[in-house]
Order: sequence, then C-alpha cells, then structure tokens
Amino acid sequence: MSVDTIPDAAGLPLIGALLDFRRDPLETYLRAQRDHGDVVRFTVGPPGLRQEFYAVFSAEGAQQVLARSVGFRKDDAFYDEIRQTFGNGLLTSQDADYVRQRRLIQPLFTRRRVDRYARAMCEETSATLAEWRDRDGEVIDVLAEVTRLTQRVVTRVLFGAASEEAADVVGRNFPLLGEWMLRRGFSPLPLPRWVPTPANRRAAAARRELYEVCDRIIAERSSGGAEHGDLLNLLLQAGDDEDDRLAPAEIRDQVLVFFLAGHETTATSMMFALYLLAGNPEVQRRAREEAERVLGDRMPEAADFDRLAYVHMAMKEAMRLYPPSPGISRRATADTEINGQVIPAGKIVLLSPWVTQRHPAYWPDPERFDPERFTPEREAARPRYAWFPFGGGPRACIGQHFSMLEAVLAIALMLREYEFHPVDTEIKLTQKLALRSVGPIRCRISAR
Ligand code: HEM
Repeated sequence: MSVDTIPDAAGLPLIGALLDFRRDPLETYLRAQRDHGDVVRFTVGPPGLRQEFYAVFSAEGAQQVLARSVGFRKDDAFYDEIRQTFGNGLLTSQDADYVRQRRLIQPLFTRRRVDRYARAMCEETSATLAEWRDRDGEVIDVLAEVTRLTQRVVTRVLFGAASEEAADVVGRNFPLLGEWMLRRGFSPLPLPRWVPTPANRRAAAARRELYEVCDRIIAERSSGGAEHGDLLNLLLQAGDDEDDRLAPAEIRDQVLVFFLAGHETTATSMMFALYLLAGNPEVQRRAREEAERVLGDRMPEAADFDRLAYVHMAMKEAMRLYPPSPGISRRATADTEINGQVIPAGKIVLLSPWVTQRHPAYWPDPERFDPERFTPEREAARPRYAWFPFGGGPRACIGQHFSMLEAVLAIALMLREYEFHPVDTEIKLTQKLALRSVGPIRCRISAR
C-alpha cells in the first residue's frame, strides 16, 4: 500500500493547515477525524519551512504506537526542547539511559510508596481550604488555586523540609520556561538558544536559577546528615549498591521532570473536574454524599482512595473530556501499517487523547459529562486505549497513581467543605504545555 492513500487534512495551497492550527488546533484535529477518518496527514507552513506529520485517532492505532517498546521513538522537536531545557530525565531519555533510569525509579512509584504521600496531600489541601475560609461566597480562579496546591504537594514530597527554599524558585521559573519552550517547540524555525534575544536571556537566567537551587539541595543532602523521608532521599538511595546509584546531575534531571510532568498536569485535571462538578449539580451532590459517607469528619488516608469510587469515576470522566496532555508524539522508525494505512519511516506521529476520548465509536454522546461511563463493567467493554490520558505501554506515566490519589483525596475534601457554583459556563480551550482554557475558569464557593 502506498503512502498516497492517507488523506490530507485540507489547508491552503501555500501554507497547508497553518492558519487552522493558529486559530484552533483542538478543533482542527476533531474536524480532521470527522472529515477524513482515523489516520490523517497534516502539512503545516510554507514551502521550505513546511512540517508534515500524521495523526492517528483510533484506540487501536494508539495501542499500536504506545504498547510496544520498538518502532516509535521520542525523537521530535517537542521532546528535544524538553531535553535541552530540563535535562534528560525519565520523560525524555531513551535506550540504555532510559532502561537504567526506569529500573531505578520505578520502585519509588509503586502504589505502596505513593500512598505514603497521602498525608502531605491532605494537609496541603486543608491549608488551601483554610485559606478559602475568608472567601466564603466569593469567586475563585480555580486554576490559580489548584496550581498552588499541586505545587506545594510536589515540592514537599520531593524536598521535604527544604521545600520552602525551592517553592518560590519553582513557582516563578517553571511557567516562564514552559511558555518559552512551547513557543520554540511549535515554531517552524526557532532561533538557536545562544542568540541573546530578551526571551532567550530570560529563559537562560530562569534555567540557571532552577538548576542552582536543585543542585544545592541535592549536594546538601548527599553530604549526609539527617534521614529524610522524601522522594529526593529515595532517589539518592535508588539502586542495589554504590556503583548503581544515580549521579547528582541525573538526580537533578529527575527532580526537574517530576516538577515539569507532575504539577501542571495534575492541577489541570483538578481544574476541569471542579469546573464540570460546578456545572453538574447532581453529580456534585452524589460525589459529596460519597465523600461524607466515607470520610465522616476525619482526615482522609490512602486507603480511602478505593472507597471514593464515584469521585474517582468523576475524575476519569473529567480527564476524558479534558485530557491535560491532549497530544502525545513519536517518530516512526520503520514503515508501519495502522488502520490499513502505511505511515512512512522517519515521520512524526501524533496520538490524540483529546480526539480519541471524544471519538463517537467508543463514546456515545461524547460531549456529555457522565461519570457512569467508568463503572468497571463499562470500562471492561471498551478498547483499552479508548481512554489514555496517561499514555500507555512501557512509557506510560509513572505518576498516574500519584496524581489520581492527590486529585481524588483533594476533591473529596473540597466537596465536604464547599459547594461549587459555575461562573464561566462557556469556555474556549487552547493547547499550551497542558490543555488550557483561553480565559479563566472561575467558580463561586460557598461553605457548607
Ligand atoms: C493528571 C496528571 C498527569 C497526566 C495527565 C500525565 C500524563 C502523562 C503522559 C501522557 C505521559 C506519557 C508521555 C509519552 O508517552 O510521550 C506521561 C509520562 C510521564 N509522567 Fe505523567 N502525567 C501526570 C502526572 C504525573 C506526575 C504526578 C508525575 C510525577 C510525579 C509524572 C511523571 C511522569 C514521568 C516521569 C513520565 C515519563 C515516564 C516514562 O517515559 O517512563 N506525571 N505522563
């Protein structure tokens, strides 16, 4: 079969789909699936700067790309930008480096280990709820609130007592670097990083400050001293013996990846969940009832996670409609047949939780918010990759339980103490590092 049979998402003759992507990338993907099916070629940009990639929208196609450890690599502009900005940690490394890192780090993210962070998650949520006490009846910016929370949780879990020192540096520099990286990753011809434009200089300074604080905390910790129960300690001790340890620079790369991959995504999932709960009072009522029944008036613990089944279902449904990572990219290393079409070797392949999770073949009435889609029976009846906000296969998200535990416990606590009422009912979405709304998403909170 020849590559020419893959339908092209029509754009303009000279610039391809450039304007469509500028205007609304998310709608562009949905329309391409509707008009052309599950494997579509996009050409973007004028001749000479033109980029070409293939989008795969079926669950079967996503499985084919993600479930195997060969055939597709993280060799593309987006992952290169992350490598150059945040080092070569678990998210971006490949081959022998990757195998070693995953072997050393996987044991730190077992469910049993992650469950130990439940207390930090709940205490930080309680601190947020205490701050809301003076704002009863007011309108809150949901993203700002949950971002502060997830940032506090990840810095505390990583750095323990040193988290105060890191929190400010992380909070200031990550958004700036993320924005800069995104602009470069999507630009057809980014200027080299060493060109002293104001943006490049600001980014270099932010990166330096971030590296310095991480390196200092790691050096202090490596030189011995008290036993700390945080993730940094586990990273320092990972491996069978001294020869098998991660080097300090490798540890810094992991720490940066946990910040990068770990807080904005979780905050995004919580923001959209609260937005949907506010707009669906009946679901909110049911989730609250469950939170009250399970928790009474005590602090949650990790074991409550399984008891908060409906809150968990609502989180999954929120992540279906609004996947924090709406796209996942790879480069094909060999010609690969997917859904009867051949994607040529060397080409970029984009998988789209955003489109697949609204695909009418798997999701009847896809726009409707309905946590009942995630009963165990209905989950078992769907293809495995109809829902994949955490990726899948050997490179699936290592933080999946971490983020779900944090989101489910935090939302249960929030529902127990507050009602959420919608303010911004019509939102327009856009794609940043994580899925975003163009304007703020606000809710009115009222104490119960
Ligand atoms: C709602 C929250 C989250 C979402 C939606 C999410 C999404 C994802 C996705 C889609 C991938 C696969 C990327 C690919 O295949 O190219 C991934 C990988 C990864 N995530 Fe997450 N993530 C979340 C939370 C977290 C947290 C809390 C952490 C760490 C504390 C984390 C750390 C990582 C790492 C290290 C990888 C790379 C794993 C590997 O390649 O072995 N993520 N994540």
